Amino acid sequence: MPDLEVLLSEERIHDRVDELAARISADYAGAEDLLLVGVLRGAFIFLADLARRLTVPHAVDFISLSSYGKGDRPTGAVRLLLDLRSEIEGRHVLIVEDIVDTGHTLEYLKQSLGARRPASLKTCALTKKPARHEVPVEIDYLGFEIPDVWVVGYGLDFEDRWRTLPHIAVIDPTS
Ligand code: PRP
Repeated sequence: MPDLEVLLSEERIHDRVDELAARISADYAGAEDLLLVGVLRGAFIFLADLARRLTVPHAVDFISLSSYGKGDRPTGAVRLLLDLRSEIEGRHVLIVEDIVDTGHTLEYLKQSLGARRPASLKTCALTKKPARHEVPVEIDYLGFEIPDVWVVGYGLDFEDRWRTLPHIAVIDPTS
């Protein structure tokens, strides 16, 4: 079993999710048609907690992408695996991500969803790793900046394990 060291405790995450939900609720007050777009699979836990703290009406949908920016594969290519079920033209869309790493996934989403003419398009990410960004990254609602270490928990995985830890931990995949 690899070593796991807590980076963000359950309490810190929950406090930050409360803050983000309060800001989002204030910013979208009066918006009739807010759609949260969760990026599978990692965002499912963050999205569930965030959505349940919002005080504004909203709908939820999911999209799934495969990023080729990892490991020894060429960087930057993103492929759509599962599209939204919803039409987004004229709606206020908020993309919800667990982590922004190279930034290619978010850039792809902004371009492809932006082309569908939503009323507005903003981004919310629980974490980002600035040291890994390969393209300019603008996040409207950010939880935490984290160092360039492999993290698991609260939706984040290593080889599809550890997603359901209640906190975010640093994992040493070699241990
Ligand atoms: C992760 C994460 C983001 C993406 C960010 O997904 O959930 O969607 O990588 O990486 P980028 O900024 O370098 O594009 P991953 O491809 O690991 O799939 P998963 O969510 O199913 O674990």
